[in-house]
Amino acid sequence: MIIACASVKGGAGKSTLTVNLASEFLRRKRRVLIVDADPQGTSRVWAEIAAENKLPSPTVIAMGKDMHRPGQLDQVAAAFDVVIIDCPGRDGAVVRAALMMASLVLIPCGASPADAWALQQSLELIDEARCLRPELLAHVVITRRRATTLGKNARTDLHACGVPLLAAELSERVAYQAAMGVGRGVTTMTGQAEAVREIRRLADEVENLFTEKHNANASIPHVA
Ligand SMILES: Nc1ncnc2c1ncn2[C@@H]1O[C@H](COP(=O)(O)OP(=O)(O)O)[C@@H](O)[C@H]1O
Ligand SMILES: [Mg+2]
Repeated sequence: MIIACASVKGGAGKSTLTVNLASEFLRRKRRVLIVDADPQGTSRVWAEIAAENKLPSPTVIAMGKDMHRPGQLDQVAAAFDVVIIDCPGRDGAVVRAALMMASLVLIPCGASPADAWALQQSLELIDEARCLRPELLAHVVITRRRATTLGKNARTDLHACGVPLLAAELSERVAYQAAMGVGRGVTTMTGQAEAVREIRRLADEVENLFTEKHNANASIPHVA
């Protein structure tokens, strides 16, 4: 499974999605690689803190706009069950390279109008990638959802963008910030039942998408 977390908007929740999915897949005994493609290095620092705190931590490598070239990520990825690419916000060349490698792109998107505008720009990059790779799956994940009118209407408002929305949503929770600071994912923390439910549901949905994709490919008749 190669998953890209991508959105042109800074602070949308790409790194939060990356580290929480990575941590949950590690808990599920998968071999996990994070490709930190953002020079900010959020997921790299998170994994360093995890290792310092003697917590399970994924392998993390830094890669940029050449990751799609033969002998780069393809070679490293073969040794892992799950690869998560934490994309930078504004570097189109790096995001394009990530979209050449990923089978699934998750686009974190908040409920505000600014998020919806940025989403259109993210979708343009994905449309471009799909011209070359029509099999690329793309799903929006509602993040930082609050119990406001905007938050409550987010699903209906974002539905209009034409990209499928995952059923799993991440609410705005201090737990996500606290977990990041100590090198954990929320599903390895105690007393965070709602956040745990959100990430487990997200990981289940992601796994199901790959199972469906695999089954669909397997059912294509082989032409001799
Ligand atoms: N669901 C959430 N609830 C609370 N804080 C969040 C949530 N998602 C992200 N954040 C916080 O917002 C900031 C930016 O999130 P981050 O995941 O680093 O975004 P990006 O990687 O897209 O720039 C971080 O401080 C992070 O802890
Ligand atoms: Mg980030």
